Amino acid sequence: MFGLSTLTRVAGELRRDVAAAHQRDPAARGVSSTEILTSWPGVHAVISHRIAHVLFEAGVPVAPRSIAYVSRAITGVEIHPAAKIGKGLLIDHGSGVVIGETAEIGDDVTIYQGVTLGGTGFATGKRHPTLADEVTVGSGARLLGPIEVGRGAKIGANSVVITDVPANATVVGNPGHVVRVDGRKPLGPDADWIHLPDPVAEAIMRLSERIESLDARVAELGGDESQAAPVLPLRSVRGPNPAGG
Ligand SMILES: CC(C)(COP(=O)(O)OP(=O)(O)OC[C@H]1O[C@@H](n2cnc3c(N)ncnc32)[C@H](O)[C@@H]1OP(=O)(O)O)[C@@H](O)C(=O)NCCC(=O)NCCS
Repeated sequence: MFGLSTLTRVAGELRRDVAAAHQRDPAARGVSSTEILTSWPGVHAVISHRIAHVLFEAGVPVAPRSIAYVSRAITGVEIHPAAKIGKGLLIDHGSGVVIGETAEIGDDVTIYQGVTLGGTGFATGKRHPTLADEVTVGSGARLLGPIEVGRGAKIGANSVVITDVPANATVVGNPGHVVRVDGRKPLGPDADWIHLPDPVAEAIMRLSERIESLDARVAELGGDESQAAPVLPLRSVRGPNPAGG
């Protein structure tokens, strides 16, 4: 059932997974391979998956899902045994990562905590993302559906990506938009997806300025001896009000 070639392949993959932690996790610098093998949950999750995947491909019943289940309980990383994962995957910090059944991950990919490579609904067949080599997915990012993420692309923390991403692009936001390609801002009038206008804040800002000028005018006319209260400049606030519950 398992040839020597399978064992050699898995051993090679394990070596590259440990090397990935050394190369791409700053906290692993100067740490021995033994220590990484014994105390890096992301590495444990990948190793468990490699074993579960080999068993799954060989048609072994029960064991692949059981291994995935135990690995999830220990590491907080859930990887379906059928997911195809290339060499040198680093799951940094581990916890909260979900990788779906039909997800495909190339070589030397880095995934941070809280990432979902998920489906969008109840569709069957290929329904999870495909990541090319050297992709980085920031913490909390959700990549949904059978999208393709090109080689070397970076997905910003907390982005929600539901469309294909070109190679060497940086995507941020919800929904995710390309804000860099090969390190340069994409051209076009609608290309700035980071600094979106906030019409309500702008209207309040105009009103504040108007009140300030009226206060000054009233003071000039001698109608009000008291010092007008200062109008504080508004801070630009992005995203929902955290006080909103
Ligand atoms: C996206 C990321 C990979 C940087 O990629 P990059 O190609 O080097 O992009 P830059 O840093 O030049 O940022 C490009 C723009 O996107 C913005 N940006 C970067 N990450 C962002 C994010 N997650 N959400 C919103 N905007 C973001 C930057 O402010 C910058 O805006 P600007 O055009 O006003 O300068 C990085 O910001 C990121 O999110 N990394 C994930 C790291 C992580 O999850 N760490 C967890 C460790 S525990």
